[in-house]
Amino acid sequence: MNLLRFDSEPAWVNGATTFWRDRLRLNPRLRMCLPTGHTPNAIYAEMAGAVQRKEVSFQQAAIFTLDEFGGLAPDDPGRCINMLKRHLLDHADLPAKQFYALNPDARDLDAECRAFEAAAGGPFDLVLLGIGLNGHLGMNEPGSGAGSETRRVDLHEITINSSARYVTHQQLPRWGLTVGMKQILEAKEVWLLANGERKAEIIRRTISDPMSEALPASLLRKHPNCSLFVDATAAAKLHS
Ligand code: PGA
Repeated sequence: MNLLRFDSEPAWVNGATTFWRDRLRLNPRLRMCLPTGHTPNAIYAEMAGAVQRKEVSFQQAAIFTLDEFGGLAPDDPGRCINMLKRHLLDHADLPAKQFYALNPDARDLDAECRAFEAAAGGPFDLVLLGIGLNGHLGMNEPGSGAGSETRRVDLHEITINSSARYVTHQQLPRWGLTVGMKQILEAKEVWLLANGERKAEIIRRTISDPMSEALPASLLRKHPNCSLFVDATAAAKLHS
């Protein structure tokens, strides 16, 4: 895993955005899988600004959602699709037909997951990831093996409680759909993004604990092209 450590949060945002712009310029047809949550929002804002300044374009690209909460109303601001729209898609130039989202309201969730994987059609060019305090990636909670497929999952208590930061009500989601570890690990390139002090301990464990499905993020260490983007506070417990 390549470690990209930035001195400040603005430098971290700028670094990730600069790399991302470069990837898109080199391959305008880039097929990406993108997370939501708080971690990527400042990066999405920078990227949206770059699109508006016509420095980069998503016109030929494709974007797939990484995960989605079940049991929230379609217009709930905490739905991953709505977060991604609010922070990136509404301000970018991606054609709607090149956006693929996991739909938790589908009648047959297994068929929905298979159709999503079929739409991806092969390895993603780039997967961006945040990390949960329990080391989950997307909604691949501890116990998710390297071969896990895109599927319905029950959320761990820590993830349910964390989701309170995204919604404005008490009906917290208890399950979701997620791209599986298999599709993440098969991607051509993976970036794990972490900022802030609250992520320092899980980032230390991701790097130092035994590689195990008990800590899904640690499985990224066997990926041949994975980079960890950390700001100084998230990197605080890493040795040089
Ligand atoms: P966060 O969530 O970006 O809001 O911290 C990350 C995650 O739980 O995967």
